[in-house]
Amino acid sequence: MRIDGTAWRPIWAEGDGETVGIIDQTTLPFAFRTKRLTRMDEAAEAISVMRVRGAPLIGVTAAYGMALAMRDDPSDAAMAAAYETLHATRPTAINLRWALDRMRETLAPLPEGERFACAWALSAAMADEDVEINRRIGAHGLDLLREVAARKGRVNVLTHCNAGWLATVDWGTATSPIYQAHDAGIDVHVWVDETRPRNQGGFLTAWELHQHGVPHSIVTDNAGGHLMQHGEVDLCFVGTDRTTATGDVCNKIGTYLKALAAHDNGVPFYVCLPTPTIDWRVRDGVAEIPIETRAPEEVTEIDGALPGGAVTRVRIASPGSDALNPAFDVTPARLVTGLITERGIVEASEAGLAALRPEA
Ligand code: MRU
Repeated sequence: MRIDGTAWRPIWAEGDGETVGIIDQTTLPFAFRTKRLTRMDEAAEAISVMRVRGAPLIGVTAAYGMALAMRDDPSDAAMAAAYETLHATRPTAINLRWALDRMRETLAPLPEGERFACAWALSAAMADEDVEINRRIGAHGLDLLREVAARKGRVNVLTHCNAGWLATVDWGTATSPIYQAHDAGIDVHVWVDETRPRNQGGFLTAWELHQHGVPHSIVTDNAGGHLMQHGEVDLCFVGTDRTTATGDVCNKIGTYLKALAAHDNGVPFYVCLPTPTIDWRVRDGVAEIPIETRAPEEVTEIDGALPGGAVTRVRIASPGSDALNPAFDVTPARLVTGLITERGIVEASEAGLAALRPEA
């Protein structure tokens, strides 16, 4: 997608053929900065501190991290160590394990001398695949938006967190139908959940949509139910970090509450996902998906820009209180209207998911 008219991806192979560039998402929307990852441990750090984030982008960054490891030491021991370090960065997004498994399965049979070149090429291929997957998700979701637009004109979509192009290699998942609808001349407006505590909605989704000229309004995380009661939300589109074989969906904390409100108000609640986000080994999302707990300071402190533009971190909670910061929650399949994937829209159920199995 474009920033001030120039096409960008949030990750790219640098021209030297051995280092990786990223947009550093920790400084957005106040400052646009890029960073060069030169070693595997820098890729791991970028994932842990969320310079890159969002399930698909975490996967591609891990793949490049493995490639950087192979450049420095293509031995089996180095591959195993890189796998372990990268896999430990964040626990919830299954794309991380999916990408690392794919790298390891491809690289392990190769002679050491061929591993770096292969890892580099495979990382680039995975990045390009992600772009195409998300473009297709958008094409399927676009049909839903067209249908609403034909019925009532302006389409109001509510989204949570950032499942936008910054969370993928391009297009985003939840935002892909929105961008494609906007580009097709459909009058689409987005309610952007602020998404406390890290504000991925107010900081990142809003920034993206603004860059692309998509009409949107930031709302507090508590506003969605009220908007739905008053007919102000036609559809919810969200992303996912892990989807079970039975259709439960794990996404940014607060997604579950939006799904409950949507269910209560008869608002269709769609989850947009690339099929690598499905964890075929997991059946019960609430019981089995590991939920990341992040630092309490993310709840009690926040970055903001002073009137002169300087960015500062302030405390926003009563001093001396503890805080708990679970980063994801699970929305049971029964609350999900449909799963929008690159292979089409399916029911959030074991039968619906079965049609997406790689062997199907
Ligand atoms: O903690 P984050 O910012 O990595 O969480 C991101 C999300 O919850 C996204 O909705 C999800 O990864 C899907 S991204 C297409």
